[in-house]
Amino acid sequence: MINNQWYVILESKELKKHKPLRIKRFNEHLALWRGNNGEVCCIADSCCHRGVSLSCGKIVNGELECPFHGFVYDKTGKINLIPANGKLKPVPETMKVQSYKSHEAYGLIWLWYGEAEKATEKPFFFEELGDFSYSTFKDHWNVHYSRSIENQLDVVHLPFVHRTTIGSGKKTLVNGPVVVREGELITFYVNNIKDDGKTISLKPDEIVDYKQLFQLRFHFPNIWQNFISNKIRAFAAFVPVDDENSIVYIRYYQKMIRIPILRGLFNYIGKISSIVILRQDKRVVETQLPKKSEFKMNERLIMGDKPIIEYRKHRHELIEEGQ
Ligand code: FES
Ligand SMILES: [Fe+2]
Repeated sequence: MINNQWYVILESKELKKHKPLRIKRFNEHLALWRGNNGEVCCIADSCCHRGVSLSCGKIVNGELECPFHGFVYDKTGKINLIPANGKLKPVPETMKVQSYKSHEAYGLIWLWYGEAEKATEKPFFFEELGDFSYSTFKDHWNVHYSRSIENQLDVVHLPFVHRTTIGSGKKTLVNGPVVVREGELITFYVNNIKDDGKTISLKPDEIVDYKQLFQLRFHFPNIWQNFISNKIRAFAAFVPVDDENSIVYIRYYQKMIRIPILRGLFNYIGKISSIVILRQDKRVVETQLPKKSEFKMNERLIMGDKPIIEYRKHRHELIEEGQ
C-alpha cells in the first residue's frame, strides 16, 4: 500500500443509514456506519475488549455499540461508555481502536490510509464528471489491486483480449504510447494501428500531435478515466482488499441523454457493455502470477508497456515517500 493517500473504498449507496457494514480493505477488517448527520464513520472491526466484530453491533445515538458487552465506540475509535463500569466511571484513554478519516462525494466513499495528521482536506476526483449521469458495476477480482490497475493501463492487450469488442480491427502495432505524468496524474495517449509488415512502431518521442489521440487517465492511488468522447466516459476505481484480492467499480458516465427514462435505459446498456469488456479482462488477469505487481520483478516489458512501467515507477516512489 502507498501510505498517506485517499483511497476510494466503497460506493455511497452500499453504506445504509441504520446498519453497520463489515468490509475488508487494506488487508484489514473495518466496521463502517453512518453517524447522526449521515457522515461515514470507520474503525477497526475488532473490539479491544475481547475481539468481537463491532460491525455486528448496533448504532446508538450515532455511535457503535459492541454486541458482546455493550462498550460504545465513537468515530475516533475511542470508547465512551463501559456499561459494566457504570456511566459515572471515566473510560481509560487506552481503551480505543484504530480509526480512519473518511470523505464522501460523487456517490463514492474514500478513506485516508496513513498518518491521520497528514490527511489533505479532500481527495482528487475527475470533477468534470460532476454533470454526467452514470451507472455502476462492481466486480470482485482475485488479484492484488496493482494488477487490476495495470490491466486498465495496458494498451497492448486490446486486439487479443477484446478482439470481439473494443479491440476489433486487428490493430496490433502499438505506437508510443506517450505517457505524461503531472504530479499524481498520469495521462497516456494511445495510437494502435494495423501492422502492414512494412512499418516499425513509433517511439513515444516520434509521435507529433499526440494530444489529438485517444487518451486515458489514471490518478494515484486508485482511480481511472477513459475519454470515449466528450459526452461519454468510463470511470474505474480499483479498491485494495488484500494481497490477492481487489474490487473493481466500473462506471459508465454519459451526458448525451438527459430525459430520465431514456437516460436510465441508455446508462443500463452502457453498463452491460462495460460488464462484457471487464469480464474479458478478468478472465485473463486473474491468471497472472504473482498476484501483486512490484517495481522490480521478473517480467520482460516492452515499449508498449510504458504506462505500466511509469505506474510501477511512481508507485514505488510514493511508497518510499510515505515510509
Ligand atoms: S467484546 Fe466488545 S464489549 Fe466485550
Ligand atoms: Fe481490457
